[in-house]
Amino acid sequence: MLTHEAATEWITRWDRQQEGYLPDRETRFTALIDAVQALGRPDPVVIDLGCGPGSLSARLLERLPAATVIPVDADPLLLGLGRAAYPQLPFVSADLRTSGWTELLGLDRPADAAVSTTALHWISGPELKDVYAELATVLRPGGLLLNGDHLDTEDATPALSRLEHEVHRIETERVFGANPPEDWRAWWDAIEADPDLSALNAARTTSGAAHRGSESHLLSHHVEALREAGFPEIGTLWQRGNNRLLCAVRG
Ligand SMILES: C[S@@+](CC[C@H](N)C(=O)[O-])C[C@H]1O[C@@H](n2cnc3c(N)ncnc32)[C@H](O)[C@@H]1O
Repeated sequence: MLTHEAATEWITRWDRQQEGYLPDRETRFTALIDAVQALGRPDPVVIDLGCGPGSLSARLLERLPAATVIPVDADPLLLGLGRAAYPQLPFVSADLRTSGWTELLGLDRPADAAVSTTALHWISGPELKDVYAELATVLRPGGLLLNGDHLDTEDATPALSRLEHEVHRIETERVFGANPPEDWRAWWDAIEADPDLSALNAARTTSGAAHRGSESHLLSHHVEALREAGFPEIGTLWQRGNNRLLCAVRG
């Protein structure tokens, strides 16, 4: 049986693993939560898209305890860890590529913000347009989409883009040197070897939530999809190399 303590330990290990790719992960979380706080409402409704085991949602709720934070993901294992570690969060199981996913959120008023970290690049270009268009139907005017991810500008500014990649590589090397944390594969291998997680692992292989291989790493794809979906103002709020916090304001 998966206990609260075990789930918390797995999530701490997840956070270390993610930091191996993102030494600034906590700083980016902080910048993102600052932007939610800057909306000026003590009780915002916030949707966390591709929440994983809930690292960002938990930090949001810690800063803004009166907020309604709704974490959404399609992966049964990561949702299972999140539910066991953070019973105060109403995790929703939904694939953002499936039309109608916003109906599963149980919203009783339009959301003030949708947030996401290291997740939306998994969604291909045409599907991304649908995700943002559906999101726009549940965000209030002036509401924010805040997306922290590696987003590249290589189609528009190739030399700058190379520099951004290199800055990120140098920073990662400086922080971790010869001792990087365990990687994505090692973390999943360890998860698969834990007998207490066998039911969640089995659900994972049959859920159909698997990644289809086509990704959206270009900043321009996100900007275009957001404009089409009704977000007239779009800009970068925080950046380090190609790791950035994109902010779009719902018109
Ligand atoms: C690298 S993890 C990041 C998780 C979390 N946001 C964090 O920063 O720790 C990417 C997440 O996106 C989720 N994801 C990818 N495609 C998705 C989709 N189509 N619908 C819902 N979640 C998705 C994955 O299940 C995974 O939890």
